[in-house]
Amino acid sequence: MNPMSICSSSSSSSSTKSWVVHGLVVGAAVAAAIGAHTYFYFRRSRRFRSRVIGIIPARFASSRFEGKPLVDILGKPMIQRTYERAKLASMLDQVVVATDDNKIAECCRGFGADVIMTAESCRNGAERCSEALQKLNKKYDIVVNIQGDEPLIEPEIIDGIVKALQSAPDAVFSTAVTPLKPGDAFDTNRVKCVVDNLGYAIYFSRGLIPYNKSGQVNPDFPYLLHLGIQSYDAEFLKIYPDLPPTPLQLEEDLEQLKVLENGYKLKVIKVEHEAHGVDVPEDVEKIERFMREKNLS
Ligand SMILES: *[C@@H]1O[C@H](CO)[C@@H](O)[C@H](O)[C@H]1NC(C)=O
Repeated sequence: MNPMSICSSSSSSSSTKSWVVHGLVVGAAVAAAIGAHTYFYFRRSRRFRSRVIGIIPARFASSRFEGKPLVDILGKPMIQRTYERAKLASMLDQVVVATDDNKIAECCRGFGADVIMTAESCRNGAERCSEALQKLNKKYDIVVNIQGDEPLIEPEIIDGIVKALQSAPDAVFSTAVTPLKPGDAFDTNRVKCVVDNLGYAIYFSRGLIPYNKSGQVNPDFPYLLHLGIQSYDAEFLKIYPDLPPTPLQLEEDLEQLKVLENGYKLKVIKVEHEAHGVDVPEDVEKIERFMREKNLS
């Protein structure tokens, strides 16, 4: 039914599994080894991170696409599609929309979503998630930031990044990558990622990484494309927006580099996912065409 299910190719499925297994086996040892580091102070005596919330941050104003969350995609607002996908994830105890806009709030309540109003001044989705988390009555250990511009996000990917974070107690952040299409190698809107042997992020870049000595794309190298979905340790999310900007983050304009530059660990899972992000109005037609072809409604 879902043609883009994750881990469909045998090679990526086995590597995803091996990362998860590695995470489970070495997690405790790693956590013990890093106990001395002050920046992990809040992780030391904490229990398993079991309580998980999905937050869909949505703002009305956008430089490239005004009112984007409400755009109609084959008869449903885009944010409703994202919400319905998120509700299918088995690892989420609750899903809420966090917005600064009354029209979005009204629309979401209309299809049954819980809505948290957040400030217009939030500079990005993580900040909006952080504010929403602090306005919630219930306590959570992990927050998944589900960006509303990927309406075809698979629930399995949401579950995958939650499990990855849970099995890596030394990590405060997790995200997903998928094989990069060679044509996207030099597209600066497509963010690339390199990871270590245990599946922790080494670096993210808008440039092609690694960069082959020949100066050309190596058709044999499994380059990784970063997907716009992430989960955070809830304690970390409270301090994350206030961490001062870092040089690499500012140079690449990539928020997640601040995590790495401050010495935190970020867990990455590999999934099979054909990205259909809606960034500009022209993308709506593309995603509708894709959905018709695949018989998705
Ligand atoms: C660069 O890419 C080529 C294929 O285009 C590959 O044969 C080679 O091993 C790669 N690495 C280096 C260091 O050249």
